[in-house]
Amino acid sequence: MTDQRDVRIRDRSIAKYQKHAAGYDQTCGPTWPIRMRAIDALCLQAGDHVLDVGCGTGLSLPLLVQAVGPSGKVSGFDQSPDMLAQAQARCAQAAWPNVQLALSSAQDFALPGRVDALLFHYAHDILRSPSAIDRLLSLAKPGARVAIAGIKYFPGLLSLLNPWVYLKNQGYNGAPGELRAPWDRIAPRLTDWRLTPTQWGMGYLASGRLPSVAGQASTAATPR
Ligand SMILES: C[S@@+](CC[C@H](N)C(=O)[O-])C[C@H]1O[C@@H](n2cnc3c(N)ncnc32)[C@H](O)[C@@H]1O
Repeated sequence: MTDQRDVRIRDRSIAKYQKHAAGYDQTCGPTWPIRMRAIDALCLQAGDHVLDVGCGTGLSLPLLVQAVGPSGKVSGFDQSPDMLAQAQARCAQAAWPNVQLALSSAQDFALPGRVDALLFHYAHDILRSPSAIDRLLSLAKPGARVAIAGIKYFPGLLSLLNPWVYLKNQGYNGAPGELRAPWDRIAPRLTDWRLTPTQWGMGYLASGRLPSVAGQASTAATPR
């Protein structure tokens, strides 16, 4: 369910992506290897159903379609009409029969079945929203795999550059900031948690699984 804070953040985010959508794909070259590593971390198998969380313009879709094969399924959603329109155009051009996209906020997204894996690729606002996390994890099977990639603050001496990291994040997010441990609301809900810094510490790649049995999530998850 969307609360008032989520609504304010959503409105700001949609306005920002209205400006960014047309040129978005051209900005993603440098993070392409991270996208591939995040998708690899999902260990997708033929026949899996994977959810692309905040799918944007659909840059991950070809990789996900290939990984789940013709017997699998790819679902994706985004709340920005401008970003989703590009994902829909990509999908129509490729004529993938097993991809379904929806214009929706993470807080309100619904699916008829449950997914085997969730990809959060540069989905900072979604990771900072407790109601979005609740919603999305409720759509996954027990034991489902989760991979997350995103931006964070530099540690150590490089932290002098963090005002620049903040500004970079502010350009795109409805709720900029909270970049010390952007994963800290989802990590405690997952088991087998792994986190690797990327981009000299300005990024991170993380993975985990939903508990196979309810109530089994790690309570020790304060990873850095
Ligand atoms: C940085 S882009 C990443 C897009 C895509 N995942 C990628 O890797 O290229 C973040 C996307 O998340 C979407 N988004 C942000 N908050 C959202 C929310 N609460 N619900 C749905 N989409 C959201 C934005 O509209 C935007 O398209």
